[in-house]
Amino acid sequence: MHYSDFGLTNTKKLLMRALRGKYAVPAFNFYNMETLKAILTAAEQTNSPIILAVSESALQYMGDDILMGMIRGAKYKKNQVALHLDHGHSFDSCKHAIDIGFSSVMFDGSALPLSENIKISKKIADYAHKYDVSVETELGVLAGIEDELTYADSHLYTDPNIVANFAKRTNTDSLAIAVGTSHGLYKRKSDSDKLRFDILQKIAHNIPNTPLVLHGASSIPQKYINDINKFGGKLNNARGINASQLKRAISMHITKINVDSDLRLAFTAGIREQFYKNKNITNPRQYLDFAMYKMTKQCIDEIKNIMSSTNKA
Ligand code: G3H
Ligand code: 13P
Ligand code: ZN
Repeated sequence: MHYSDFGLTNTKKLLMRALRGKYAVPAFNFYNMETLKAILTAAEQTNSPIILAVSESALQYMGDDILMGMIRGAKYKKNQVALHLDHGHSFDSCKHAIDIGFSSVMFDGSALPLSENIKISKKIADYAHKYDVSVETELGVLAGIEDELTYADSHLYTDPNIVANFAKRTNTDSLAIAVGTSHGLYKRKSDSDKLRFDILQKIAHNIPNTPLVLHGASSIPQKYINDINKFGGKLNNARGINASQLKRAISMHITKINVDSDLRLAFTAGIREQFYKNKNITNPRQYLDFAMYKMTKQCIDEIKNIMSSTNKA
């Protein structure tokens, strides 16, 4: 089925509007009914455009039929929502997502040699554009974490000198860049670590009409770390990207901000709180409902206080 049959829109339309309007569209990851409902409730309550992000592993976890069944049954305003494959790693993976009804795919060729990244990105864009599906590609490598507790220092920032050529040769609809963010809970060694706005400025100058994407952009609210630890968990040294840095990035052509970790934290904190306070709890709906409520609140908070996308649907 084609995504328009589900009332979805593509990310090109959402992001070009955001680029002109100087706000960001949140890409929130989900992986089950509760996390999908949390995001859609936040979208409804704020009237914000939303990108529903599904990683390859989340797609495998849900299965094609259950995922698309939920999308078909979900309620949202027409053209408010895009369904996006997050970090697709091959042509086949992106093609598969398009064929089952996704409106947007990311090809993450950032770890490949440049020529290979261009070749596969272009092949995917050619296929996707036949169906009016949008394509996000990536240049530069985000620093990662080696395990739950150590921070790897291996940023490979996006080279502003090659972005124009890359965008032209791939015909990409948006570009994910590396300017100092990283995935997961351990993004920065200290609060003084800042994003590389000098690089971002050059990239925005060189491709002014291409929406830019920030991965690994969770702010890691300390209240969840505290709650998780208070209610029996153990998380140390987690540190995200400050809201002020994210807002500055939005003023410099970042139009899509990817958030997964913050929502995992909110959801987990909710479940831990329920388990801790109700020792005899056995009804999963009771703790999942509370976790869903906590995640909805976090989505709304980010829409209002970081993305500035309220009422832009
Ligand atoms: O950027 C990656 C997302 O956080 C998805 O992670 O593959 O564990 O679903 P996942
Ligand atoms: P976080 O780990 O910062 O939430 O990043 C998520 C992401 O980039 C998904 O693609
Ligand atoms: Zn990512």
